[in-house]
Amino acid sequence: MSYKLISLNKIPSTQTYAHELIVKENAADRTVVMAESQSAGRGRYRRTWVSHHGNLYTSFIYAIEERDPKLSYAVAVAIAETLISFGISPNIKWPNDILIDGKKVSGVLIEYAKDFVIVGIGINIKTNPKVAKYETTKLNNYKEINKSELLSSLMKFLDVWLGRDFLVVRKRWMELAAGLNKIITHRGRSVELIGINEDGALVLRNGSEYIMTYGDEISI
Ligand code: BTN
Repeated sequence: MSYKLISLNKIPSTQTYAHELIVKENAADRTVVMAESQSAGRGRYRRTWVSHHGNLYTSFIYAIEERDPKLSYAVAVAIAETLISFGISPNIKWPNDILIDGKKVSGVLIEYAKDFVIVGIGINIKTNPKVAKYETTKLNNYKEINKSELLSSLMKFLDVWLGRDFLVVRKRWMELAAGLNKIITHRGRSVELIGINEDGALVLRNGSEYIMTYGDEISI
């Protein structure tokens, strides 16, 4: 099935644009909003997503019957597989940051509006911002990547992975996960990253105590 692509030059945010489409115009399932740059790109936890010209800024709109917290894992695997198809070796930092050599190259913002989910995906191709909390990188440090080819490949892998059973997604997510079985930091404590369970919770271990969480941040 094909996507309906809305390609724009500079807008505040593809995510906000997608929200407006849904609220004002009854957006269609599988609409993709793409912008060359964003003046008010948004990240998770109300952070700014610096969005200079040259990178991929897209929001995928899908009609849904119910919310699925496990969707973010399928999206992360789809982005990772897209990069792998270009000969790059990424890892996934829980839940859906994509890293290369431990540096963030892509982020995902999942939001809901009416009967739709909006999957916002940013991938650094030509520029990467300096961010205080973590290191960043861009695809062109590894390979020359054509943006339209990247988008077509991303569409293909999203279709594959959004359609797969969660147990298959979970297995692949774990293979690609950064910091698995390593000591990471969660709420200021050093804990072992065990993985994700069948419900999609992050599982951490502190001695004999297992911690399950859905919403926190970790540092690796
Ligand atoms: C994050 O890692 O914090 C998520 C970043 C998501 C950025 C993308 S770029 C396209 C879409 N439009 C936005 O304003 N944000 C998302």
